[in-house]
Amino acid sequence: MCGIVGYVGPRKAYPILLKGLYRLEYRGYDSAGLALINSSLNMYKTHGKVSDLENSLRDKDLEGTIGIAHTRWATHGEPNDINAHPHFSPTKKLAIIHNGIIENYSSLKEELINRGYTFQSDTDTEVLIHLIEDIQVNEKVDLFEAVRIALNQIFGAYAIVIISQDHPDKLIAAKKGSPLVIGLGEDEFFIASDAAPIVEYTKNVVYLNDEEVATVNRQGELKIKTIRNQEKTPYIQKLELQLSAIEKSGFPHFMLKEIYEQPRSIKDSMRGRLNAAKGIVSLGGIIDYEQKFITARRIIIIACGTSWHAGMVGEYLFEDLARIPVEVEYASEFRYRNPIIYEDDLVVAISQSGETADTLAAIELAKSKGATIIGICNVVGSSIARVTHAGSYTHAGPEIGVASTKAFTSQVTLLTLMALSIADKKGIISKSRFYQLLSEMEAIPAKVEKTLQLNDYLLDISKVFHAAKNFLYLGRGYNFPVALEGALKLKEISYIHAEGYPAAEMKHGPIALIDEEMPVVVIATKKGAYDKVLSNIQEVKARKGIIIAIVTEGDKAVNKLADYTIEIPETDEIFVPIIASIPLQLLSYHIAVLRGCNVDQPRNLAKSVTVE
Ligand code: AGP
Repeated sequence: MCGIVGYVGPRKAYPILLKGLYRLEYRGYDSAGLALINSSLNMYKTHGKVSDLENSLRDKDLEGTIGIAHTRWATHGEPNDINAHPHFSPTKKLAIIHNGIIENYSSLKEELINRGYTFQSDTDTEVLIHLIEDIQVNEKVDLFEAVRIALNQIFGAYAIVIISQDHPDKLIAAKKGSPLVIGLGEDEFFIASDAAPIVEYTKNVVYLNDEEVATVNRQGELKIKTIRNQEKTPYIQKLELQLSAIEKSGFPHFMLKEIYEQPRSIKDSMRGRLNAAKGIVSLGGIIDYEQKFITARRIIIIACGTSWHAGMVGEYLFEDLARIPVEVEYASEFRYRNPIIYEDDLVVAISQSGETADTLAAIELAKSKGATIIGICNVVGSSIARVTHAGSYTHAGPEIGVASTKAFTSQVTLLTLMALSIADKKGIISKSRFYQLLSEMEAIPAKVEKTLQLNDYLLDISKVFHAAKNFLYLGRGYNFPVALEGALKLKEISYIHAEGYPAAEMKHGPIALIDEEMPVVVIATKKGAYDKVLSNIQEVKARKGIIIAIVTEGDKAVNKLADYTIEIPETDEIFVPIIASIPLQLLSYHIAVLRGCNVDQPRNLAKSVTVE
């Protein structure tokens, strides 16, 4: 998964491209590069981060008002200078940047080698630009046409921008399966993987659709065609994103900023959708599919990572409240295990980025079998948002930290609204209970705000345990997925091994791990199988395990057993996952910072996994 940026217009391109790369670094950061046209087409690229690229450019010719730039997360070819983007065509008159995977690149490469071409890199991207120039030269067509013809020979995903020394006034862009957005300025265009590099210059954007090719020039002309040669009228949208939303707003890390944004992001997820006083839940994006939910024989939730944990909470919500059978599937497993999918299945695909390749592929599989697909995404205009039949955006705002926090609580908020709405429409839940839950739901953002006040205490606990080698997270019922999510948060940013487990399952093996070196985080809030969780805590204590317990405010019983007790505001059982997640996010964050880890860009990870 990579970040791409392009600019053509009256301004100097280099500062725009560089700042754009910094804004996109969360998409991948193992190598970076750029190409500019001044009197000729100049290209600079390097292994490492955007800052390494910037440092390498001190004495270079960075003039020019047209350019492309790229920050990479390697898929083909290891991260090094040669495999960094952009890539030249054989004559070095064309350069390309690319986000995605060309699945048939090796057969294309073989063909091109047979025609006498040579290659510098191991990338699929270099094959594409060679193919484009080969078509341009041999079929004597213009660049736009050559790109269009070439893309008809491509299998896989791409978001590309191409620059040409012979046409210093225009850029060509195309996409399929990877995101690409075009910003429209005054006789200038900005092209990027998402809106972050664009928003400070213009709010007018066009999201390219799959298999569309666009050309933009400094005369302010934008032309779009499908790769099947059908003219398309650009659909210009207004960007909601504010620049401040992308900056850290004074926090040391995006992750901490996003943890503290949760009172607002949860409120935004409910905005216009919940009116407790009137007993109304209305999810506009899926209103036309409400009947599908009400009559659903089965809901299949597909997702990856943290979104899969949100889906696990969704299972408890839909089964407990709406009495609909639910299966929660890892998208990567679902797409390959030849699953049984019925036409009346309702699939709910959850994805923060809306670009996760496995989730996209699982959606396509379910769609091909006739199932109805509802999306829960955070990125407006993302690929998943556009391939599902309907859906709701979480409206959590841009989540830059690679470890998902506010997106998770917003996903759970949306799933809770859906389950409550369906339960009410199916007449399964009494009106009094329905009103009571809606009223409590409106109070959740304030309770999250209150929970954030535990931050200093969580820092104190982190100072005790940041050197631990392993952690165990235990929860039951609605809190079992919270235990899974807490463990993932810790391991993905602090690199400490951690496992989430159903509390009762501990007896079936993991209890062998318990000793005085093992911190055990237990979500032991007052609702659900509270007494059973108390016994699990005693089992851990009996083996000298260290207990860090998340409890309901005022609970003194657990206090006597636990080494550390974190009291969170009382709420209904179905809302505990949202609140209990907050201290676990803070615990992971502080431990990771104390261990000197790169919290916002953990090693080996990228914000959105757009490759298999
Ligand atoms: C979450 O902290 C992780 N970064 C990762 O598991 C993520 O949730 C997963 O890759 C799914 O991403 P998506 O929600 O954008 O589809």
